[in-house]
Amino acid sequence: MAGVISGEFFGQQTDASRRKTEIVVKYFKAWAKIMTGIKIDSPRLNYLDLFSGPGIYDDGSKSTPVYILEELFKNPILVERVKLHFNDMRKSNVEALAKTIAQFPLADLRYPLSLTNYDAADYGSAVVRELQGYPTLSFVDPFGYRGITQRLLESLITPFGSDCIFFFNYNEIQRAVLNPKVLSHMQALFGISRFDQLRDLLRQPDIREKEQAIVDVTASALEDVGGKYSLFFRFRNVADSRTMHHLAFLSKNDKAYSLMKDIMAKASSSQTSGVANLTFSARVESSEERQLELFTDDPIEELKSILSHRFSGKTIAVGKIPGVHAEIDRLEAHNYTLANYKRALLQLEAEGKVTTNRPNRRKNTLADDVVIYFP
Ligand SMILES: C[S@@+](CC[C@H](N)C(=O)[O-])C[C@H]1O[C@@H](n2cnc3c(N)ncnc32)[C@H](O)[C@@H]1O
Repeated sequence: MAGVISGEFFGQQTDASRRKTEIVVKYFKAWAKIMTGIKIDSPRLNYLDLFSGPGIYDDGSKSTPVYILEELFKNPILVERVKLHFNDMRKSNVEALAKTIAQFPLADLRYPLSLTNYDAADYGSAVVRELQGYPTLSFVDPFGYRGITQRLLESLITPFGSDCIFFFNYNEIQRAVLNPKVLSHMQALFGISRFDQLRDLLRQPDIREKEQAIVDVTASALEDVGGKYSLFFRFRNVADSRTMHHLAFLSKNDKAYSLMKDIMAKASSSQTSGVANLTFSARVESSEERQLELFTDDPIEELKSILSHRFSGKTIAVGKIPGVHAEIDRLEAHNYTLANYKRALLQLEAEGKVTTNRPNRRKNTLADDVVIYFP
C-alpha cells in the first residue's frame, strides 16, 4: 500500500513511512557530522526516539531505529560519542525492538543504549532529564498527540545543538482541536492563546488556506517554546487529495534550518525551477503529474523581487540570508533552499540589481561568505 502511514499497527511499511525515515536518518547523519566536527565541552551527543515502535514491520522491513543504528555503526566516532535512547509505552514494542537491535555490537557503544518503556505523557520529562543537557536530536513520532506538550518540546530543544523532528497527524489534530474531551491535551500542545487561534482557523472554508494558516499557528506555537526556525514537510494521501501528516522540524539554529531544508527539498515529490514543494505524494511520484507546474509564477523570479524588497539597503553574507529571511517572514521563506537563494542572487547580480564584495570570483559561483550589497 503506497502513501498512507499505518495506524496502530506495524503491518506493512508504506512509501510515506519510508520517506519519513529517510528524512530523519539523513538529518541524523548530517547533524552528527556537524556536532562531531565542532569543538564542544562534552563529548556526548544524544539521539532520542521517544516513540520508537518495534524497529521492524510485520513484512520484515526495517524502520527508523534500525537505520539509525546502521548509520551509527558505520562511523567509529559516533560509536564513541552518541548515546541512544529509545522509548515506547508498549512493552511488546520494546521487547521486539530489543530483539531486533541485538544484531548490532551494542557492547561497543561507549554510552550504553537505553531502551525504556514509559508513557511519554507521564514520564516524558523523566526521559528528557536522562539527556542531561547534552546536545540532542530527538524524534517525536506518536500515533496521536497524547504526551506531546509545549513544555516537552521546549526541553528537547533547549540544550545547545539540540533539534527536534516531530511527526504529527494533521487530520487527527484538526479533529482533536474541535473535541472538548481533549481540550487540556490540545492546550498543553499549543498553549492557550494559540489553541484559541487554531480553533477559529478551522472554520476557514478554503482547504489550502486553512492548512497554511494551521501550519503557521503551529509554527508560532513552536516558536513560543524556542523553535525560532521551523519547517513543515507535508505527506499527502494516496489520491493526493488531502494532507495526512506533517513532519515538523524545530531548531534554534539557522544552519540546522538550512541543512534540514536541503534534505526535505531532496525528499520532495515535485519542484519548479529548482524550488521544491516540501511535500511527499506517492501519486505524483508515480505519474506524469510530477512535471506539473506547482507555482503560477516562476518561484525564482518571485524570490528575486522578494529579496530586493526585504533586503533593500542591507549588506549581508549569502549564508546568512535564509535564516534572516525566515525571521522576517517564516512562510515566505519556507520553501527556498540556500541553492535557490544563490541562483536568485546570481541573476540579480547579472542584472546589476545587487553588487558583492567579490566581483571577480569564478563565474556562476557564490560562496556562503560572499557579501551582498542590496541598493
Ligand atoms: C508511529 S509509531 C512510531 C514509529 C517509529 N518512529 C518508526 O519510525 O518506526 C508510534 C509509537 O508510539 C508508541 N506510543 C504511543 N503513545 C505513546 C506514549 N504516550 N508514550 C510512549 N509511546 C507511545 C506506540 O506504541 C507506537 O509504537
